[in-house]
Amino acid sequence: MSKKKLRVGVIGCGNAAKIGHLPTYQKSPLSEIIAIADPSEAHLKKVQDMYNVPKAYNNPDELLDDPDVDAVSICSPHWAHLNQVLRAAKNGKHILCEKPLGLNLEEVDKMIKAVEKNKILFQTATQKRFDYGFQYLKEQIMKKTIGDIFHVSIFWYHSMTDLGPNPRKELIEEIGMWRLTDERCGGGDLLDHGPHYFDLLRWWFGDIKSVYAQVRRINQSRVNEDHINIILTFKNKDITASFERSQAIFGDRFGEEIGKIHGIKGNYFFEVPHAYFLKPMKIQQQTRRKSLENIGKELPKDEWNLSFAREVRSFINQALDVSNDDVGFPEKWIPTIYDGRAALELVLASYESSRTQKIINLPLKKYTPPVWC
Ligand SMILES: NC(=O)c1ccc[n+]([C@@H]2O[C@H](COP(=O)([O-])OP(=O)(O)OC[C@H]3O[C@@H](n4cnc5c(N)ncnc54)[C@H](O)[C@@H]3O)[C@@H](O)[C@H]2O)c1
Repeated sequence: MSKKKLRVGVIGCGNAAKIGHLPTYQKSPLSEIIAIADPSEAHLKKVQDMYNVPKAYNNPDELLDDPDVDAVSICSPHWAHLNQVLRAAKNGKHILCEKPLGLNLEEVDKMIKAVEKNKILFQTATQKRFDYGFQYLKEQIMKKTIGDIFHVSIFWYHSMTDLGPNPRKELIEEIGMWRLTDERCGGGDLLDHGPHYFDLLRWWFGDIKSVYAQVRRINQSRVNEDHINIILTFKNKDITASFERSQAIFGDRFGEEIGKIHGIKGNYFFEVPHAYFLKPMKIQQQTRRKSLENIGKELPKDEWNLSFAREVRSFINQALDVSNDDVGFPEKWIPTIYDGRAALELVLASYESSRTQKIINLPLKKYTPPVWC
């Protein structure tokens, strides 16, 4: 693409768009937001005024058919991704699509076909890879700073134990209440948050071999799961991982997000702060030779270097076919549609493992969606 500025359309004007996508497109000298779409008139108006966007569509299809739009960010609820990706691909628009890419692998395979056929760029919006802290850990794993890794454990929760019959309006907007109440979601907390860490774990340690999971619904008023424990093995048979994710744990609304990476010569401990957009990740390194406290505070932490910003900047650079050097993130690490598929496959394998109470080997051969009743 030879044009100087990428002309972008953003679909879905909720949290992901407002926190992650719109501010970077607006700030970048290489892009301009020319259109937004959202069926909610109120959300549309608020974002149009905030970002001074020329075109605002109630019907996302109209944005997807708009010939002035070169590229789209798809930030709608999960169930809307499939048709929007297919229409964008057919119309030759580059796509940055939020996770989870779809509700099942059949959906994502249709997306892959359309993306390959129309030769467009597709980036999966698993933004954690772009966090300087997680990138630092990836680089240390590659350098074997703590030797060969044998285990990693992740514990991540947001407290949404019981929102009661009339939760506060701000809370509803903050979490996108459809997550807990709408049958169209196709899954609960694991589908929503699992892709982030499945993506990181694959990026750090390579392909996953097997999954064993307990996927539970603690709050019976929810349409889907809210507490999950998973054990993973890797094709690299020396490594295992455990992942615990919950929206059922009583505690701080913003919860906790911590991890431990164990190598034969030492450990890394990391903690992602609640206000991850303001504070750097806390990282500690423990080895026999030297222990380092809070390495994370040395890493860049300004708006332009947030994970979301680096993700969107990488997308713009790729779409304009220019180098990604200014982001400091190698192009080969930018998450593709195939990475997005692999992350979703692990979510579905976890459901299948919990349903059958068996270890599931990848690739996933059979999947029956969980039924909560
Ligand atoms: N990468 C991340 O860290 C991250 C963070 C939050 C959300 N997400 C993902 O982004 C997506 C949106 O989540 P959110 O938290 O922004 O939700 P949200 O409820 O805050 O926003 C969703 C917006 O989409 C609109 N919408 C509803 N149906 C639509 C449709 N058919 N087409 C277009 N817009 C539609 C809603 O009116 C709302 O404005 C989800 O897939 C979610 O998993 C990713």
